[in-house]
Amino acid sequence: MTSSDRIKNAFLRSKIMTAEDAASLIQSGNTVGMSGFTGSGYPKALPPALAERIETAHDAGENFKINLWTGASTGPELDGALSKSDAIEYRLPYNSDPVGREKINRGEIDYLDMHLSHVAPMVWEGFFGKLDVAVIEVTGVNEDGSLIPATSVGNNKTWIDCAEKVILEVNSWHDERMLGMHDIYYGTALPPNRVPIPMVSADARIGQPTFRCDPHKVAGVIVTDLPDRNAPFSPIDDTSRTIAAHLMEFLQHEVKMGRLTNRLLPLQSGVGNVANAVLDGLKDTPFHDLKAYTEVLQDGMMDLLDSGQLLTASSTAFSLSPEAAVRFRENLDFYRDKVILRPTEISNHPEVIRRLGCISMNGMIEADIYGNVNSSLVMGSRIMNGIGGSGDFARNSFISIFVSPSVAKGGKISTIVPQASHVDHITQDVQVLVTEQGLADLRGLSPKKRAQTIIKNCAHPDYRPMLEDYFERAKRDAYGLQTPSLPSEALSWHQRFIDTGTMRP
Ligand code: COA
Repeated sequence: MTSSDRIKNAFLRSKIMTAEDAASLIQSGNTVGMSGFTGSGYPKALPPALAERIETAHDAGENFKINLWTGASTGPELDGALSKSDAIEYRLPYNSDPVGREKINRGEIDYLDMHLSHVAPMVWEGFFGKLDVAVIEVTGVNEDGSLIPATSVGNNKTWIDCAEKVILEVNSWHDERMLGMHDIYYGTALPPNRVPIPMVSADARIGQPTFRCDPHKVAGVIVTDLPDRNAPFSPIDDTSRTIAAHLMEFLQHEVKMGRLTNRLLPLQSGVGNVANAVLDGLKDTPFHDLKAYTEVLQDGMMDLLDSGQLLTASSTAFSLSPEAAVRFRENLDFYRDKVILRPTEISNHPEVIRRLGCISMNGMIEADIYGNVNSSLVMGSRIMNGIGGSGDFARNSFISIFVSPSVAKGGKISTIVPQASHVDHITQDVQVLVTEQGLADLRGLSPKKRAQTIIKNCAHPDYRPMLEDYFERAKRDAYGLQTPSLPSEALSWHQRFIDTGTMRP
């Protein structure tokens, strides 16, 4: 079936146009809300056409730029193409595209890195001004004009509702059998009219399977047949396997202590290789009948669904390797009632995360000896990706866990440092830290006890004596002894790396 057959609404079928014509509907200075979350469900035809149009305008001496909002990261056809063409003035709320990252770090794109749960409400609240155009990839259009979502939901509902005009990409690469997987909740409101989100279990369905969309707002429809980005994960190495083993031992200890059962609580697993590897570690454990309430559904979760260990997974997007994407499509009927894709404002809603009591497991750039975690800025200034949903989960989960190898860049960087060069998650939001060296259970510990535990259990042996020495001197010479620190020295490891290429003296 071609994409145009997927447009069952006659009025919207009459709006079919080329990507180039659709791109001409976007003007310089427009704010454009595009679909897309972790490399899935992003528009793939309009952004390259727009990039080309903007390059032509630049060649003619015109200063043509747009403000770009999305769900989270997208793909090379979107962030890559638009960044390459210097088309982006301002970007929110998350980026992992290497070209975009480079331009942000060169100061050529203004980037606002936000809690993902905040984006939709703040757009509704009018905090960021008007949204001119929404560009949304969908699987199909029903006769009544409602839209069948694709492999991510992200902020699409909000973009469709708030934008002055909507451009659709109907992509026949997406499997039509996905209809029914999505749960689009229309019950959110602005204060003082907010009511509780009626979500009492991770697999509850509280909304509808499609997006509402006023057909008269639709300015153009593009038909495509193009795959999602679906980047492969790094093979699981010994370091990640050891991190996962420490974490599994901890969870089993929690069961032994009666604080959890073997069914655990809804799992959240963050982006990246290490988080994916941690999921793999669940395989050979006594944990069963698990549920996930998370933001991205990665290969590791697919494996757990396949084995039956995981019953259901609630997410806002897929983030699969090419191999897992094929597996998903081949076995879609199996996954259909097990996977629920929701708007990010629901998948990451603090109220729901707190109520369900999620176990959150996120990657980090570094942690300091007091347990403050940096998820986003290398050496305090160079963006990696962004905070994503890690803050939504860390603050509100039953147990908030951060994982990382104890060193980065072949040992030149210690991920346990005297002071984090930037803080995304304050020490109060971090209950457990895990590296391949061991696990630090920080619950109930005062700052000095936290420091002792983190240095002893998590630091790499090459850096541990340096941390011990720093901590001892801080306890002797600090201005105050609540969280002893030596301000002139606390960030010297980072400065040494910037100056010499290594944190080692
Ligand atoms: N200093 C410099 N670079 C560091 C670093 C540090 N302290 N720690 C990690 N890195 C680099 C690694 O060297 C690697 O670089 P490379 O791509 O050039 O090889 C890269 O960061 C990724 O590190 P890796 O160890 O493979 O971890 P990861 O893939 O699990 O990613 C984060 C770790 C922190 C980048 C990732 O988890 C992230 O972006 N988190 C923020 C968003 C988030 O948590 N979302 C969760 C809600 S879904």
